[in-house]
Amino acid sequence: MKIAVAGKGGVGKTTISAGLILWLAEQGRCPLAVDADPNNCLGYYMGLPDEITENIRPLSDMREVLAERAGTEPGRGGLYALSPPVTDLIEDYMVDTNGLSLLVMGTVTEGGQGCLCPENSVLKTVLRELVDLDRDMVVDLVAGLEHLGRGTVAAMDGLVVVTDATRPAIRTVERIRTLAEDIDLTTIVVIGNKVANSEQRQLIADGLTDLSIGGYIPAYYGQISQEGVFGGEAGTKFREDIARLAEVLQQAFQG
Ligand SMILES: Nc1ncnc2c1ncn2[C@@H]1O[C@H](COP(=O)(O)OP(=O)(O)OP(=O)(O)O)[C@@H](O)[C@H]1O
Ligand SMILES: [Mg+2]
Repeated sequence: MKIAVAGKGGVGKTTISAGLILWLAEQGRCPLAVDADPNNCLGYYMGLPDEITENIRPLSDMREVLAERAGTEPGRGGLYALSPPVTDLIEDYMVDTNGLSLLVMGTVTEGGQGCLCPENSVLKTVLRELVDLDRDMVVDLVAGLEHLGRGTVAAMDGLVVVTDATRPAIRTVERIRTLAEDIDLTTIVVIGNKVANSEQRQLIADGLTDLSIGGYIPAYYGQISQEGVFGGEAGTKFREDIARLAEVLQQAFQG
């Protein structure tokens, strides 16, 4: 299963990504987790040991290296290589631990107009290369899909879009769907998260009638730990939700 997880800010993308990765790891499938969110907290949510999370550096911190690979200078833009060599970067930056691997991409956000392209192009190429590995993979995205190119998408099984029962989050699903279709990413499964009652469930279902809804996860009222999503009582229930969901996703993405 190779998927990317998108959705409006705060809906639970990282929580669900971490859950899916931990579930895959528990199945002995040695998944690859890609943290493409600038907050870089996927490792914490997966409950990785401090000595790992605290020492991880996002690939994007290496602006000089990225720029050099792209054949330009940091923040300069201009002409640059569209498919720079990245295999050694992946080997250097990927962390193997607890039956899974984690690569933190980060995002290049500084710099003036036109300066972001070369470095981001390298990050995009990294993702393109990762998706060809023969491994289960979950990418925790930001709301936009700028890390995804057509080549990556073609090798991916699909996109999971998370929403809660608020109109802005539901509208964001539609916006993401449009962005996804632009890059031929048409296999989309929606997950309703933090759903407190049947009215909320209905709000999501009614708002997204022409999309496939893979399932709903209850609101555990802030009890899901951000330092290991399967921890504690809420985490035990959340693990069951994720197991159920993972089966649905595998079905959805097989055909
Ligand atoms: N089902 C749930 N029940 C209760 N709390 C939840 C649930 N899912 C996520 N949360 C909580 O909601 C908050 C936001 O979740 P999370 O960080 O996963 O969202 P996100 O979409 O990744 O946010 P961002 O856009 O900032 O990256 C966290 O405090 C998380 O513990
Ligand atoms: Mg997040």
